[in-house]
Amino acid sequence: MVSISSSPLSLMSFNVSFNFNTSSSLLYPFSQKQHQPSKNKKPKHHKIACTSNDTNQNSPKEQEQKPSPSNIVGHRRNVLIGLGGLYGATTLTNNNSLAFADPVPIPDLTKCVIPPTGLPNNITPFSCCPPISSNLKIIDFEFPTFKKLRVRRAAHLNDSISIDNFAKYDKALKLMKALPDDDPRSFVQQAKVHCAYCVGGYTQKGYPNTELQVHFSWLFLPFHRWYLYFYERILGSLINDPTFTIPFWNWDAPDGMTAPSIFTDPNSSLFDPKRNPKHVPPKNTFSNYRDTIVDLNYNKDFDVPGTINPRPEVRINENLNWMYKQMICHAKTYRQFLGSRYRGGEEPLQNNCAGSIESLHNHHHVWVGDPNQNNREDMGHFYSSGRDPLFYAHHANVDRMWSVWQTLRGKRKDCTENDWLESSFLFYDENKNLVKVKVKDCVDESKLGYCYQKLDIPWINHKPKPSKRGQSKDNKLLAQRPLRKFVDKFPIVLDSAVSIIVKRPKKSRSLKQKEVEEEILVIDGIEFDDNIGVMFDVLVNDDDDKVIGVENSEFLGSFLSLPHGHNHGNNKKKEKKKTCFTRGLTDLLEDLKADDDDSIVVTLIPRYGDGVKISGIEIDFEE
Ligand code: C2O
Repeated sequence: MVSISSSPLSLMSFNVSFNFNTSSSLLYPFSQKQHQPSKNKKPKHHKIACTSNDTNQNSPKEQEQKPSPSNIVGHRRNVLIGLGGLYGATTLTNNNSLAFADPVPIPDLTKCVIPPTGLPNNITPFSCCPPISSNLKIIDFEFPTFKKLRVRRAAHLNDSISIDNFAKYDKALKLMKALPDDDPRSFVQQAKVHCAYCVGGYTQKGYPNTELQVHFSWLFLPFHRWYLYFYERILGSLINDPTFTIPFWNWDAPDGMTAPSIFTDPNSSLFDPKRNPKHVPPKNTFSNYRDTIVDLNYNKDFDVPGTINPRPEVRINENLNWMYKQMICHAKTYRQFLGSRYRGGEEPLQNNCAGSIESLHNHHHVWVGDPNQNNREDMGHFYSSGRDPLFYAHHANVDRMWSVWQTLRGKRKDCTENDWLESSFLFYDENKNLVKVKVKDCVDESKLGYCYQKLDIPWINHKPKPSKRGQSKDNKLLAQRPLRKFVDKFPIVLDSAVSIIVKRPKKSRSLKQKEVEEEILVIDGIEFDDNIGVMFDVLVNDDDDKVIGVENSEFLGSFLSLPHGHNHGNNKKKEKKKTCFTRGLTDLLEDLKADDDDSIVVTLIPRYGDGVKISGIEIDFEE
């Protein structure tokens, strides 16, 4: 391991003064107390204001965009993630000394890779590159002017405004699909945007050998926000309606957990035949209602013919617990939510990893994708997912979860790191101009002129419960696990369920300490063949004799990766891709009364995908 004590980044972190507001109730909206609804306070979700009246026009959420150190505690891992290359310093091929402090630059369109490196090898290769003219002209983004915020609505509603809006969407998408394929506004090209940014179509401008990847890191939410923004603007311009909005698939609420019917009518432009017919059947075809309720922690291997899905109310409850975990108890810090750092000049997947909502969203992709296609097209593979109109509705809800998460955190700061805020992307706008956009300009969606319909947040009090005795003393814990296969050597090859005892550097912390620093479980150096999808579950302090479900506190999360590439690209020396899995532990350990234990037992259960290797598991702390 590389020592960080003298790394430039850690020194840098300590040189910048940090203004810390010590009023705990404001700063730490996620503390245990706040999980209980308070009679005196308005429920938090009432702050998710989005009305179509004039009261909030031109009043974007207040935000502060001053760069500041993300983390005043120079933890080993944070610095390593940040430095990227240092982690494997001996094998480092990219010697750019600025690599540790650069925002991710725009893609170099002139070097677009044909075919993209991550296309599956069982399809006919094709290009995902956008059309470019000889005088490649790039303009800087300017905020739109508007009188009122445009309201994105839930796709399952059938009030008259919604119905009217869906009809507009159908019409606009028909027009978009009718544009010639080489028009950057066409649906074909819109789908290719995702392909190029996500399966190795681009290198980073200024780093000709470095792939650009917008998943598995803190770029995930901003990239997709911009992507939808331009998609929506183009649709609006095609029907001459600047107020047009795309709907969101409200899968975090019971009524929205099935595919919205506007997308399942084969006569609509919103239809796509390449979907799992069991989960998203075309309208008016027979289906078992149970199978059509989304499983937000979907495991495709549990879905073999003959499986009976749980009763609707059971599934719905599990989903709400799962939402609570991804949005609240395991995602208190911005990196747990947004994803880990990824900077200019860094190869993707050199130990960067997805945030909680990106992970959740992956399950949804697999759930919608058609198992009868080779790569679960369209939604089940990054190269094709932009071809399904459901993609944009799915991502609109992902985007909405970002807005909701921001309102949940009280005074706690959003990410203010310059390398994130200044990272940039390129998109074609509704006038076929190539526009350069920055992350910092999308952090507040109201500045982009839209907001989300104000709805109740049904998972807000759906705290998971411990499955077990609620007592955990280290020794007892081990004695309770006669059947367990314990391992203590790394790397682990995950060919069966294993348990690992992980030491806790700090225990019995005060409430105040817990509020300042979140205890994080870090599973490091996760390696696998990226042509295949893999999934494993992560449990903490589970009992041998209990089946732990997502509704239980012990279920920390699932790692799921969609197939995304096979490295046949232009850079022959590409390093093995490694990702990680990190989640906040503080609430879980409180729930399990394990706060005073010296160690925890982490159990990994492989679900599908062979040959997953893990190089380390540890506990870290994040401010
Ligand atoms: Cu770019 Cu849902 O993925």
